[in-house]
Amino acid sequence: MVMKLDKVVPFGLKLDEYIKMIDHSPKDLQKHILGVGDGPASFNAEGTAKGYDITSIDPVYQFDCAGIKQRFDAVVDNIINQIIATPDSWVWSYHQNPQDLKARRVKALKTFLQDYQQSKQTGRYQTQELPNLDFADQTFDLALCSHFLFLYSEQLDEDFHLAAIQEMLRVSKEVRIFPLLTLRQKTSPYVEKAIAKFGRLGYSTSIVKVPYEFQPGANKMLAIKHQ
Ligand SMILES: C[S@@+](CC[C@H](N)C(=O)[O-])C[C@H]1O[C@@H](n2cnc3c(N)ncnc32)[C@H](O)[C@@H]1O
Repeated sequence: MVMKLDKVVPFGLKLDEYIKMIDHSPKDLQKHILGVGDGPASFNAEGTAKGYDITSIDPVYQFDCAGIKQRFDAVVDNIINQIIATPDSWVWSYHQNPQDLKARRVKALKTFLQDYQQSKQTGRYQTQELPNLDFADQTFDLALCSHFLFLYSEQLDEDFHLAAIQEMLRVSKEVRIFPLLTLRQKTSPYVEKAIAKFGRLGYSTSIVKVPYEFQPGANKMLAIKHQ
């Protein structure tokens, strides 16, 4: 199944999904974390409520709550309808069915919007975008990127991917990216390119199997670390 999307959509996941797909241990969650392209995920809101130290960046944070909700509402039914039309093309384990998937996405959005409205001035949500981030070198322990790099490999080219990962490695000690598949459900050609490039530059790279899978086969995360 190919998910057809013209552009990157603001669709957001929940904290427990982030924990599964990025292979977080309780120790990881005590780290200084940057969420790159977090959009309307409730990762930051839920994590902050538990005392975690998370900063999220996304270009969509240039908009207010109404603007972000409008962008979510404009795409949600198209996505869910594509999934309803192809139920056997998805792994129904974490999500029970398309309605459950939509309900979780709407819940994440609601939790995010509540926090976003109250907390924009805290700096936890910053309007920034790859491939250039406005943070000093090594500001963070861990930079996470979920459902943006690799997934949108048709919209974003190799140069963008490599520059984006390099920038995440500049501001953070470790980078984790999930999933490794594109919207066409094939491994992104940029995964191998990234492993080759950052391996050559002396970083340690590993592909880790994780307990989260919705696109069939999308159950792996790429970790790249400073040695
Ligand atoms: C599908 S959403 C994923 C949201 C969240 N990471 C999750 O998995 O729940 C993709 C996000 O990437 C953001 N995005 C688009 N271009 C970006 C860029 N150049 N740098 C960082 N994020 C970007 C979009 O605004 C959108 O919120």
